[in-house]
Amino acid sequence: MAGGKDGIDRGAFEGDELEGKCVVVIGGSMGIGRATAELVLRQGAKVVLTSRDQARAAKAAGELAAATGSNKIVPAAIEITRRAEVEAFLASHAKFDHLILPGAHAHRLDFAKLDEKLARESFDTKVWGPFLAAYDGRRHMNRGGSIVFYSGAASRRPLKGYVVGAAIDGAIDAATRALAWEMAAEGIRVNCISPGIIDTDVVRRGRTEEEYRKIRQSHAERVPLNRLGTAMECAQGALYLMICGFVTGEVLAIDGGAEASP
Ligand SMILES: NC(=O)c1ccc[n+]([C@@H]2O[C@H](COP(=O)([O-])OP(=O)(O)OC[C@H]3O[C@@H](n4cnc5c(N)ncnc54)[C@H](OP(=O)(O)O)[C@@H]3O)[C@@H](O)[C@H]2O)c1
Repeated sequence: MAGGKDGIDRGAFEGDELEGKCVVVIGGSMGIGRATAELVLRQGAKVVLTSRDQARAAKAAGELAAATGSNKIVPAAIEITRRAEVEAFLASHAKFDHLILPGAHAHRLDFAKLDEKLARESFDTKVWGPFLAAYDGRRHMNRGGSIVFYSGAASRRPLKGYVVGAAIDGAIDAATRALAWEMAAEGIRVNCISPGIIDTDVVRRGRTEEEYRKIRQSHAERVPLNRLGTAMECAQGALYLMICGFVTGEVLAIDGGAEASP
């Protein structure tokens, strides 16, 4: 297994970097979190995977165990905004190595008729939930581990009708850079994935087939790669952030080239 006596990898690559490691994925029942759980299971890690619902977590865990042939998977139920529960859950899995935090949902909100309650809820679930999980979770992590947040391309390439989402994503990007300094002394790296439009349930949810087809097409046309991303492509980014020991404070865009768009 790569890594010095202090557990920190300084550049060797042996292909088994996650063997013997424990990866906690809050929000692993579907989408990007589920793909990440699958990829790290395939790399030999133990995975603790959560949903807000124990049955959904157990179902996802069973399917991933069947798909990967690994039985190193533990399902759990967590609502990211309930700090005390999240803290107790993280403590119960101490010490783990990587904390992956895609478990959130930001509402699509119309600015002209802003719903303050939903806007605040979106900040609670996507910013404060993961931020406090990282704050409390770091005490239960091994040196050499890392935290991965999820923001979104809206902070860099705003979309009409997604102003609250853009503000949320910007907050996460900024916190990632600052937390890299705060947690370096504890031997924990802090990074973030900033997805473009990824073809998960988030894009399909609440839309008719026709609306879904149209939105896929219009998003695809906005980026050089001319398609939506996949959850597994985001998982590949998270794997890189977990194993490359010299990356911290990074906001990794996985967006089909949105930055290059006019
Ligand atoms: N897909 C995209 O196009 C896109 C673009 C930009 C940013 N992102 C960001 O990437 C992250 C993952 O997105 P995704 O597309 O994979 O979403 P998804 O398919 O909706 O999956 C979200 C996961 O988070 C869990 N979750 C939702 N709300 C939660 C809460 N309050 N507490 C704890 N867990 C919760 C869900 O579990 P249960 O429902 O089973 O409880 C599920 O496992 C999110 O932060 C999202 O905002 C996605």
